[in-house]
Amino acid sequence: MALADIGQQITLDVIMSAVFGIEDEAGATAAESAVRASMIRLLQLSTHPLATAVQLVNARSPEPRGVLRMILRPLDRAIYAVIAERRREGADGADGAGRSDILTVLMAARDDDGAPLPDSEIRDELLTLVLAGHETTSNSVAWTFERLTRNPGVYRRSVEAARSGDEAYIEALINESMRSRPVVPVVARELLSDWRFGPYVVERGVIALVSILLLHHREDLYPRPFAFDPERFLGVKPSPQKLMPFGGGTRRCLGAALAMAELRAVVTQILVRVDLAMTDAPAEQPRHRNVTMIPAHGGLVTALAKD
Ligand code: HEM
Repeated sequence: MALADIGQQITLDVIMSAVFGIEDEAGATAAESAVRASMIRLLQLSTHPLATAVQLVNARSPEPRGVLRMILRPLDRAIYAVIAERRREGADGADGAGRSDILTVLMAARDDDGAPLPDSEIRDELLTLVLAGHETTSNSVAWTFERLTRNPGVYRRSVEAARSGDEAYIEALINESMRSRPVVPVVARELLSDWRFGPYVVERGVIALVSILLLHHREDLYPRPFAFDPERFLGVKPSPQKLMPFGGGTRRCLGAALAMAELRAVVTQILVRVDLAMTDAPAEQPRHRNVTMIPAHGGLVTALAKD
């Protein structure tokens, strides 16, 4: 089975619950289910080789254009339908009653002049959270097991750790997985002023890219950088300058703490509940999807029947 697909069901459940307050799929409205289905479809489409061309056409455009606009339409329709549903609930006098989800908070937000957020802005926030909030985490789960099933010694040690409640080792395993396979391999900043970087001066307006992938493979920071070895993080608090799977600075990932909690729970439970077959298949190649780097076969594993 491909763990990215199973991971996606779990991480989508988590983020749909946080953002829309949907506790289980059966209780979701038709519009809420449509958001979920369109999101999965959109992600599938965005792995298509042509997707990169579509992204390039849209580079630096603040609004989606052409094919992208068309592809996004069903998702937009579903999101605006959910917002309208919630507004109707409000009109019926049930405005946010008993709800603590992010959509309720966004709808109640007011700017300094007392004006609510326009629907288009609420849509942007919801889309960002649902997309950024699940695809990354599910592929981190997939990469973790792609690495583990090719490193039997580390797998055995991880199973032992999960089954004996050794949280420090699981944390080290997750750090090592995100070091060697950072799902977001690069982050970007547009320079608002000239920037001195070592002997260089980079001019204002330039888009500077930081390669997380290269940083994580620097031999001076990580001896034997291509080995998969969680021990390197045991008893070590990773420096934010050396390990940055969540980016850094003021725009560091908003969901890093939630993502780590999800990873700890999901990785531990898989290690506890199923035995996986080791493989001598070549490492899965990375595949580009939007801003993410995902395993080409979705982290394919074979689960063994338990005795
Ligand atoms: C393993 C899981 C995840 C990884 C590897 C990851 C990685 C990242 C990275 C690299 C960035 C860009 C940071 C920068 O430019 O310095 C980012 C931004 C962001 N992430 Fe995550 N993320 C993960 C999970 C999540 C989750 C669960 C959520 C939501 C609950 C989330 C929400 C966001 C948001 C909203 C931003 C934009 C922040 C901003 O621009 O101010 N992410 N993430």
